[in-house]
Order: sequence, then C-alpha cells, then structure tokens
Amino acid sequence: MTHAADLPQPLSLAAFGPLTGDVTVPGDKSISHRSLMLGALAVGETRVTGLLEGEDVLATAAAMRAMGAQIERSETGEWRIHGVGVGGLLQPAGALDMGNSGTSTRLLMGLVASHPITATFVGDASLSGRPMGRVITPLGMMGATITATPGAGKQTLPLTITGACPAIPLTYTLPVASAQVKSAILLAGLNTPGDTTVIEPIATRDHSERMLAGFGATLSVTESPQGRIITVRGEAELKPQTIQVPGDPSSAAFPMVAALIVPGSDIIIRNVGINPTRAGLITVLQAMGGRIDLLNQRTVGGEPVADLHVRHSALTGIEVPPEGAPSMIDEYPILFVAASQAQGRTIMRGLEELRVKESDRIAVMAHGLAACGVACEELADGLIVHGRGGDPVPGGATIATHLDHRIAMSFAVLGLNAAQPVIVDDARPIQTSFPTFAAMMSGLGATARH
Ligand code: S3P
Repeated sequence: MTHAADLPQPLSLAAFGPLTGDVTVPGDKSISHRSLMLGALAVGETRVTGLLEGEDVLATAAAMRAMGAQIERSETGEWRIHGVGVGGLLQPAGALDMGNSGTSTRLLMGLVASHPITATFVGDASLSGRPMGRVITPLGMMGATITATPGAGKQTLPLTITGACPAIPLTYTLPVASAQVKSAILLAGLNTPGDTTVIEPIATRDHSERMLAGFGATLSVTESPQGRIITVRGEAELKPQTIQVPGDPSSAAFPMVAALIVPGSDIIIRNVGINPTRAGLITVLQAMGGRIDLLNQRTVGGEPVADLHVRHSALTGIEVPPEGAPSMIDEYPILFVAASQAQGRTIMRGLEELRVKESDRIAVMAHGLAACGVACEELADGLIVHGRGGDPVPGGATIATHLDHRIAMSFAVLGLNAAQPVIVDDARPIQTSFPTFAAMMSGLGATARH
C-alpha cells in the first residue's frame, strides 16, 4: 500500500490582501545541529529550548543517539542531552541516515574522524549527489580512513569513515568558503592531541566558534592578512550548557520577502538571529529599498537577536556585492524572488557554491523564474534578474523542487504576487527546515492550497 507521506504534496500560496501579523519562526538550524552535537560530547545534562524540530536536525539527534548520547524531548518542548564526553562516542550499530542534511553529514564526519569507530553515512538522492571531497581531504590528513562513492568527478555518499585515534592535528586553509568544512575540522580537533587550526580567507558563519567557547573548549580566533585563524585545543572537556536557540534568519527570509512584495503588508517577525555572519540578506534588501526595521536588539544564548518589522516596499534592483555571499548563502533563492519584484536589474555573482546545495540553486531558480514569466540570465557564478517593478509576475507554472526546501518555499512566496498560481510540485522537503511554513504563511493572511 502506498502511504500518503510517500506521495508528492503540491503547494501554492496566494494573497488576496495584505499580509499582517506577528509571528515567530522555528529555531536556527545551524545552532540546533551544533547544540545536539556539542551536548552529546559534554559530560552532564545540556538543556535546549527552541530547538528546530525539522527532519535535518532530527537526523542529527538520531545519529548522536546511535553513537551513545541520551537525547529526550520533554512535553514542554525542552530537549535534554546526556553526553558521552569527548572521546566517548560509540560505534553505531547501523548506517547513519542523514536524509537531506549536508550539515549533519559533514559535521558528524568530523566527529567520527577522531574517534576509534567506524560509521557509514547514507542519505536521500539530493544529499547523495553532493560533494564530500571537501571534508574527506582534511579529515584524511588528520588520519581518518574514508571510502566514498565515486560519482561524476566527485566523492559522494554512501561513504564509510573510520576514525583515527589519536588523530593528527592539522593546520588547514579552507579552499572554499564553507562553515561546514571549518566545523568538521574543528569538531575533529576536539579529540585530537594538540592544536587544530583552520584558516578561513573569507569569513563564514561562526556558530561553531561561539558555541565551542560557550561549552568550555579552549579556542582562539585571530584576524590576519590570510583571513580568520581559528585554533581549538584538543582533548577538550566540554561542560553542559543551557541553550536558547534563536529564530532562524534563513527561515525568517521567507515571510520577510513575502511582506516586502505583497502590497499593503506590515508584519513583525520576532526573535530572529542577526549574527553578522548570517544577516547579509537584511542589508541587501534594505539597500534595494526594503523597509525592514530591527527592533528590540538583544543577545540570546550568545547570539545577537532582533524583532524584524517588515513593510511592503517598492524595491529597486542593485548589484549585490559578491563578498557578502557567505553571510547570506542560503538566502539567494528568496533574494532572486525579491529581485523579480524590483524595478530594474539585480545582478548577483560569486555564487558558485549555490550549484552544490540541496539542488543546483542557480539552474533550478533560473528555470523556474523563466517558467513564471520573469526574465533572467543564468551566469556560471550567478544570476541577473530583470525585475517587473512590483507588478505581479505572470506565474501559471508548476515548479519542480528537486528535494530542495528553499526552492519550494521561494516559489511558494513568488505565488503571493503572481497573476496565475505558482504551484510547487512537492512541499515535503520543507519539513527539513521549516515544518510550520505553510501554517505560518496562512496565519499572516496568505491562502495555502495543498
Ligand atoms: C551551514 C553552512 C552552509 C549552509 C548550510 C548550513 C552550517 O553550508 O549553506 O545550510 O550550519 O554550517 P556550507 O558550509 O556548505 O557553505
């Protein structure tokens, strides 16, 4: 018998008036993964509130349980993690199913790399096409043995990794701007004798650094002409923490752009992380004329947070500075949607990394925007979008989401200012990062058709 969850679930959103209201978005995905991983390596009980309960994070929780941590969710939604201590991870009995989650895969590979265990990682079709060589190379230099599946010039899942114990400390300059690669090496460094150093020529999200320091690891970060130099002292002892996970700016991006493009809208999104290594989209949308005000700025759990007041705005196309790409790397699909509503051209470059996300986000967005009547030019490293000056896009297309949550949510938002419905062929991938997306958009006044 075919189960309902096995069938594609189409979704379209429409707006028959302004979006209004006051909402919160689920917890930050990057911080949620790291809370579970570091909690699982601390000795004692770590408590986490606001954890994102999306499929990606649940895959991390299942993997940490399989390697010995006790992880429970209380009825109030608080998560309690009893860790095994750095060096204490156990050999998992079966393969670790990472689902769609690149972050789970790459960071957990780092953890396994310096433990005396063997783990096999498997994932869905999207994850199984993504490059793992970027973590295999440095973790191999630290002594781990990794056998991956060769595919189209890259190493992919399924893969098996046997950790080295003791692992060899490493100093490594990142060849791609990737917080996942940085974090994999730092996490491997936790159970490695001596100092492990990552040099990042271009700054990427710094949640690992903030949280490692918060859990009591000895960590230094210095700026140099080569970039940021991050060193973690090995054989660390992590102390359990109480963590409040702030709202995910990458999820807030969807209601934010929705309010900017639907005439008359006026919304508040509460408790959104505005860490400068993540908040690039807000700056870019403001430069395009977006009325986004940051209210009640404060610090929650070591991260800067604000309430965002967003109003419908006349947007103007700009040339988006490529050097800001890492601070908004997951937000380009929804920025392309905002650009389709702007007056004039928006030029976005320096985005090679978008081609190796959950889908090739440049190609998939260019194709889908064209199908909705938006003129755009696909470049090897970006996209030029010719905006329609705020007029509804023609729409009337069904978009293939390619197992990519952010493609699904971006086109659902585009449908809010389209003459004909924009139908997302399968909304199930949204469960990976933003399970309450459709309900939240309905709460703001959008009409969701499933
Ligand atoms: C993430 C880093 C980014 C981002 C991903 C989450 C993280 O990936 O796209 O969604 O939590 O470290 P890259 O490191 O591949 O840029």
